[in-house]
Amino acid sequence: MALERTFSIIKPDAVAKNVIGAIYNRFESAGLRIVAAKMLHLSREQAEGFYGEHKERPFFNALVSFMTSGPVMIQVLEGEDAVRKNREIMGATNPKDALAGTLRADYAASIDENAVHGSDAAASAAREIAFFFTEAELCGRTR
Ligand code: TYD
Ligand code: MG
Repeated sequence: MALERTFSIIKPDAVAKNVIGAIYNRFESAGLRIVAAKMLHLSREQAEGFYGEHKERPFFNALVSFMTSGPVMIQVLEGEDAVRKNREIMGATNPKDALAGTLRADYAASIDENAVHGSDAAASAAREIAFFFTEAELCGRTR
């Protein structure tokens, strides 16, 4: 399988818990390479735009408030089967359903504060990467 890229966010709850390094270690141990990264505090406009697909959902306003409540760490991960592999490392959206040893089982408190984001498909990965990074900022091997 060819190299693939996916987009990841370490959310405000996990940044506050000081587990950026622990989470990066999980990515690297699974063979995913960090090829771009930055820390930022999302504006309301950025959070609303990024999660635009959920605009009509009942949890949308709470999600935007949470995502703007503190700094996040965003990164592009590159590797074989990166989209699926990252989702596997993350675990289920609701930490109550997340398998033992996944990031959400270990670091998430609830479905609405669940430690990490990861793209769910190749098309959303491309859109989400382009939302935050220019092509020149990506330092991987697939250019
Ligand atoms: P979703 O894309 O369904 O989950 P995932 O992050 O696993 O791709 O939802 C996006 C985020 O919205 C989710 O990570 C947390 C929040 N959310 C809630 O707060 N409550 C909910 O019931 C759902 C489904 C999501
Ligand atoms: Mg999703």
